[in-house]
Amino acid sequence: MFNGALLRYRMVYRVGVWVLLCGFAFGLISCGAASAPTATPPTATPLPDTAVDYTTQVAPILRRHCQPCHNPAHAAGDFLVTSYEEVMQTGMYAPNVIAGDMNSNLLRMIRYEAIEAGNPMPPDGPLTPEQIDIITRWVMAGAHPPQTP
Ligand code: HEC
Repeated sequence: MFNGALLRYRMVYRVGVWVLLCGFAFGLISCGAASAPTATPPTATPLPDTAVDYTTQVAPILRRHCQPCHNPAHAAGDFLVTSYEEVMQTGMYAPNVIAGDMNSNLLRMIRYEAIEAGNPMPPDGPLTPEQIDIITRWVMAGAHPPQTP
C-alpha cells in the first residue's frame, strides 16, 4: 500500500520533471528563433548604426547651410528648415525626408543629384562628406525628432 503510493508519486514526479525540462528546452529554441537576425535585402546600403541626434548634429548643418534660403521670409520651393516639423512636412515636393529612404529628395539633393524637386543643394557648393554622412545616417536611422527632455 505504502510502496504503491510512493511509486506512483515517483512516476508523477519524473514525468513532471520531464515536462518542465522539455518546456524549458522548447522555450530556448523558440526564443533563439525569434531573436535570429532577419535577412536584409541585398540592395540595402550598410550604414553604421551610431545614433545621430537631430538637435546637436543635424540642425546646426541645416541652420548654417540651408536656412538662409529655406526660412519663413525666404521659403525657396516652399521648403523650410527652421524646425524639425518643417523639415519633415514642408515643400512643394513634400515630404522631402522619408525615414529610412536613401532616395528622399533631401538626400538626393545633398548628394548633388539634380532631380525634379530641384537642383543640388546647397546650390553654391556641396556639404562636406562628414555633413552628408550625418544627415544620411539621421534619415536612415529613422529621422528621429529632437529628444524631449
Ligand atoms: C542659395 C539658396 C539655397 C540654399 C542655401 C539651399 N537651397 Fe534648397 N532650394 C533653393 C531653391 C531656389 C529651391 C527651389 C528649387 C530649385 O530651384 O532648385 C530649393 C529647393 C529645395 C528642396 C525642394 C523643396 C520642394 O519640396 O520643392 C529641398 C529639399 C532643398 N532645397 C533642400 C536644401 C538643403 C537640404 C539645403 C542645405 C544643405 C538647401 N536646400 C540649401 C535654394 C537654396
